[in-house]
Amino acid sequence: MKKMLVYGAILAFCCAPYLVVDATASNKGPAEITLQSTIDPATTPKPAQFPHGTHQARLECKTCHHGKGADGKRIAFAEGQKIEKCETCHNSKAGMPDKVNTFKNAAHVQCQDCHKKDKPELAKCGVCHKK
Ligand code: HEC
Ligand code: HEC
Ligand code: HEC
Ligand code: HEC
Repeated sequence: MKKMLVYGAILAFCCAPYLVVDATASNKGPAEITLQSTIDPATTPKPAQFPHGTHQARLECKTCHHGKGADGKRIAFAEGQKIEKCETCHNSKAGMPDKVNTFKNAAHVQCQDCHKKDKPELAKCGVCHKK
């Protein structure tokens, strides 16, 4: 018992700094996410299911994630970039182009366009908006 405590203490001491680094630099986020607009929600909220993990297994982070520069322009994703929620930038108060001016619009452009290209059945509402 005493030995385990000692090992535990050593582990916590040597690995804690790396765990902290991991949370920022290589955090992959949750494997399953329920997406729901909070800034511009529909009158009847319509959450979308998103299997983040299975998408990560096939696609690069930069396919979906990006940032915004001081000039308001899009910055391509680079390893270690802070990953923020889409709605932080894509909301009706942020002055984005109409096509991507809400979470719904930005998500539909990104998610649906790729799904449509892959196969039409994947673009049906119920694929993401499960009943
Ligand atoms: C490939 C995934 C996907 C498909 C297919 C899809 N959506 Fe969405 N939709 C989303 C995501 C992601 C959001 C943003 C998160 C949210 O608020 O639900 C969203 C948001 C919405 C919203 C706003 C919901 C809210 O609570 O604010 C509506 C309404 C909506 N979609 C309707 C539709 C309809 C109708 C279809 C079929 C013609 C459709 N969607 C197909 C992913 C999808
Ligand atoms: C198919 C698109 C897609 C791909 C590919 C993808 N992500 Fe995501 N990721 C998302 C979406 C959408 C969210 C939810 C954002 C939100 O809640 O607004 C998200 C959320 C996250 C979050 C949590 C952000 C937060 O504040 O809640 C992290 C961290 C993250 N992703 C990291 C990654 C990394 C690292 C990769 C590459 C290994 C990756 N993602 C690949 C679409 C993607
Ligand atoms: C830090 C701010 C920021 C975040 C977070 C962000 N975006 Fe964007 N996004 C932008 C900017 C800026 C543009 C360029 C808008 C323009 O054309 O003027 C853009 C453009 C887009 C476009 C237009 C097509 C393209 O690829 O250029 C889509 C679609 C999009 N974003 C979806 C998303 C999704 C989905 C998420 C979450 C996974 C997300 N964005 C997160 C700032 C952001
Ligand atoms: C660059 C392409 C791409 C983007 C972007 C993308 N997806 Fe997908 N997604 C796919 C492909 C391809 C599949 C089918 C995988 C398979 O058949 O195993 C899929 C499958 C899914 C499924 C599971 C369908 C099922 O029932 O098997 C859901 C749900 C889903 N995506 C939601 C989303 C949402 C929500 C977004 C946006 C936040 C998104 N996807 C963005 C390519 C993409």
